[in-house]
Amino acid sequence: MKHIIATAVLTLALTGGAVTAHAEGDVKAGAKFFKSRCTACHTIDEGGKNKVGPNLFGVFGGTAGKRVASFEKRYSKALKKSGIVWNEETLNSFLTNSKAAVPKTKMAIKVKKEKDRENLIAYLKTAVK
Ligand code: HEC
Repeated sequence: MKHIIATAVLTLALTGGAVTAHAEGDVKAGAKFFKSRCTACHTIDEGGKNKVGPNLFGVFGGTAGKRVASFEKRYSKALKKSGIVWNEETLNSFLTNSKAAVPKTKMAIKVKKEKDRENLIAYLKTAVK
């Protein structure tokens, strides 16, 4: 019995922090990562052009597949129908494995490291309207 309690306390101690505290990403590292992995297909500056993917200015809080009018005809049906609103959780899931989060999306990406995703999201948050 003592052992079970000790294990429970230890488990709480180990997982408690991770569940409650959302680590803040590093904006600079996120910008660097964005440049290496995203700018081939995305601009992020205000009024930036669409490339293979839509301009990402103001993506935070926007509705997936409906944000950029000039990209309207090029969004996949899957993304348009997803009803996703971009926030930390939805971006995290999309960037972890886009095709798992939104089957049949035109964007195929897997950002495997949690830290990279945190940094990216912190960076995306800075490009707000
Ligand atoms: C090979 C090209 C390509 C790369 C590289 C790429 N994307 Fe995309 N991205 C797309 C396309 C195409 C779409 C539209 C997807 C659809 O309509 O299903 C998209 C859509 C998105 C969306 C949704 C936009 C909206 O208006 O709803 C986000 C967010 C996004 N990408 C972020 C990123 C990030 C962050 C990276 C870098 C880690 C990245 N993308 C890398 C092509 C790319």
